[in-house]
Amino acid sequence: MSSLRVLISAEQIQARIQEIGAEIDRDHPEGPVYLICILKGACFFLADLARAMKMPSRIEFIGISSYGRGKTSSGEVKLTKDLDVTIEGYSIVVVEDIVDSGVTLSYLLKVLAQRKPKSLRIATLLDKPERRQRPVDVDYVGFKIPDEFVVGYGLDYAEDYRCLKDICVLEE
Ligand code: IMP
Ligand code: MG
Repeated sequence: MSSLRVLISAEQIQARIQEIGAEIDRDHPEGPVYLICILKGACFFLADLARAMKMPSRIEFIGISSYGRGKTSSGEVKLTKDLDVTIEGYSIVVVEDIVDSGVTLSYLLKVLAQRKPKSLRIATLLDKPERRQRPVDVDYVGFKIPDEFVVGYGLDYAEDYRCLKDICVLEE
């Protein structure tokens, strides 16, 4: 049997997102910003972050697969859904749920940088720095967390638990 232990409450998440929204506003005074959501885990973070910002933003989605059904990365990254727009000359903030090994984001950043955006920044709600295999420069971090498997607020385990309001540790 597995159980859930709240690590970050819905209230803490919302308060931190307001702060990150203000930081992104401050860094992009010229607007508009393209917020690129990495499906599916970052969907709730994207929705709340976009509404925490005062600068005009546009939202786009990109699909990447790396994890499959397990708790550790397969190490393989694949683009499963590309952007519907060209981003050349635009300010971009990639919106991610969690940076773990860094494999996903280092791959995606390479792909997006080739498309010559005006600027390219990363916002992640969670960061597990202990497990980093590839260096990634993250501009906005919600919370640094220890090396534990978490679910909720978009994060899943084999597609379950995404819709929890809190971020919880999934314990066996
Ligand atoms: P990375 O490529 O190892 O940095 O993995 C990033 C992706 O793995 C994230 O976008 C998540 O989808 C998934 N992931 C990493 N750690 C967790 C976790 O603790 N819970 C749920 N998904 C995770
Ligand atoms: Mg993800």
